[in-house]
Amino acid sequence: MRAETEDDGRIALIQSDIWIGFPRAEQVLDRLHGLIEMSRQTRMPGLLVHGASGIGKTMIARNLSRRYAPEYDPESGVTHTPLLLLQAPPAPDERRFYMHILAAVGAPSSTLSLKAQSVASLEVRVVGLLRDLGLRMIMIDEVHNLLAGTHREQRRFLNVLRYLSNELEASLVCYGVSEAVDAIRGDVQLARRLDEHHLPNWRDDAEFSDMIQTLIAAMPLEKKSNLQVRSLKQILALTGGVTSRIFALVKDLSIDAIISGDECVTDDAIAKWTPVWSRHANAQRRLEKSGA
Ligand SMILES: Nc1ncnc2c1ncn2[C@@H]1O[C@H](COP(=O)(O)OP(=O)(O)OP(=O)(O)O)[C@@H](O)[C@H]1O
Ligand SMILES: [Mg+2]
Repeated sequence: MRAETEDDGRIALIQSDIWIGFPRAEQVLDRLHGLIEMSRQTRMPGLLVHGASGIGKTMIARNLSRRYAPEYDPESGVTHTPLLLLQAPPAPDERRFYMHILAAVGAPSSTLSLKAQSVASLEVRVVGLLRDLGLRMIMIDEVHNLLAGTHREQRRFLNVLRYLSNELEASLVCYGVSEAVDAIRGDVQLARRLDEHHLPNWRDDAEFSDMIQTLIAAMPLEKKSNLQVRSLKQILALTGGVTSRIFALVKDLSIDAIISGDECVTDDAIAKWTPVWSRHANAQRRLEKSGA
């Protein structure tokens, strides 16, 4: 029998949010690679990645930002930052957005309190700083936060995004739920530059079955899991085809398989599974609370 600590290690690995590369996510990454490596031009093309909450947008954004982490060049003494990943502010507010960018690039705080600075001077400062970084791409996650603003505020915010992308000759990539697409289309010039990449919910097809196989193969289990077609259909029915729920289900069953010693995900376990999304997370929290 396995040592308990080894099982704990495997369970911790399953619970972590490590990247699992399936073709659909890799396709988006390939498109983004193409954009970031493209030669500079005044009107850089960009991408709008959209899909349901939990479909995997932020995971893709984080993966790319890890691959293009800032690099210090000891010869020139300059740190090159090819990619900046930002979250859209909870409402489309230019000032907050600029302040957020300054914080994200670790800009030293000005003697003048940020609140006292005009939007125009913040803008000059942000553009100056970002230009020094040698940015090639700006990614804005949670772009649907736009919807919290009035039509006018939305237009102003989109204008800021377009301006930054133009000034810096950097590609703009936005991530958000599909409801935000129309709002982004509100800025015609920006819309023309942003191609759309839709990530639909999973359906009963070969792409889904490949993804499930990749996912299960990534689980640190000792035996191979051979699932029947009806189990795949059941996974879709239980999760509505949303990536985060599919991952939660497979991870939950993999942890069960370690604890029970079955060491594989079975059709039977899927048939019996009830969608309590955070069963193990709750158990973990209880353990932490009791100080174990
Ligand atoms: N490629 C992947 N590798 C590993 N886990 C993934 C992957 N894609 C999605 N997941 C799982 O799905 C969860 C949700 O993904 P993510 O946070 O990227 O969704 P989202 O589309 O950004 O949702 P929201 O619109 O609510 O922000 C992740 O926390 C992770 O558990
Ligand atoms: Mg997200």
